[in-house]
Amino acid sequence: MQSLDVKKQFGIFPMPIVVIGTQLETKVNFMTAAWAVQVDHNPPMVGVVLSKDHLTSIHIKKTGWFSLSIPTADHVVATDYVGIHSGNETDKSSVFPIFYSRQKKAPMIEGCALSMECRLVQTLEISSDPFFIGKIETLFAKDQYLTDGKPDFSKMRPLLYCSTDGSYWQVGEHVAKAWSVGREKAVPDKD
Ligand SMILES: Cc1cc2nc3c(=O)[nH]c(=O)nc-3n(C[C@H](O)[C@H](O)[C@H](O)COP(=O)(O)O)c2cc1C
Repeated sequence: MQSLDVKKQFGIFPMPIVVIGTQLETKVNFMTAAWAVQVDHNPPMVGVVLSKDHLTSIHIKKTGWFSLSIPTADHVVATDYVGIHSGNETDKSSVFPIFYSRQKKAPMIEGCALSMECRLVQTLEISSDPFFIGKIETLFAKDQYLTDGKPDFSKMRPLLYCSTDGSYWQVGEHVAKAWSVGREKAVPDKD
């Protein structure tokens, strides 16, 4: 075993890449986030840690809404672009084709595998940055990424971010069925 520098090597990886959409009055904005996580399933809730200075954070605090879309590998250039440029200086409203739910609270991305509209239910302060927790109010999926009505990873090709090499990756091979393979052996593998 080697001891690593926790400040340089820290990171749970790979992390799923999402694009957060917000709208304040007519100002539409999108940003890339890797620090996103599912926090509950009943009700369905997601959380995302964002720097407090991002335009996205300012929008979420003011409107109480955000969208979270799962881009596919085909969206990698646009996804990286909205993660490099801030809406504080750059208009990112036309980077993606957008659509809305009927309630029109946050813009979502046409062409993404999954998009969800989230109502802010809680904000935790982590160090100086907010951890926004949103309840998923509406969920949309593109037909082409579904198999038997369920999102299909092999079709979606979601982007994963690996902090150790600062790169986008995609899901590799299927390993085993979860909640299942562990039932097959009485004694776990030693290595
Ligand atoms: C791969 C990648 C992952 C990122 N993940 C996050 C994140 O999880 N949280 C965050 O605050 N910023 C993250 N960023 C940085 C923001 O996307 C970036 O600062 C963006 O310009 C903020 O846009 P805004 O000011 O328009 O909201 C990430 C950027 C990239 C390229």
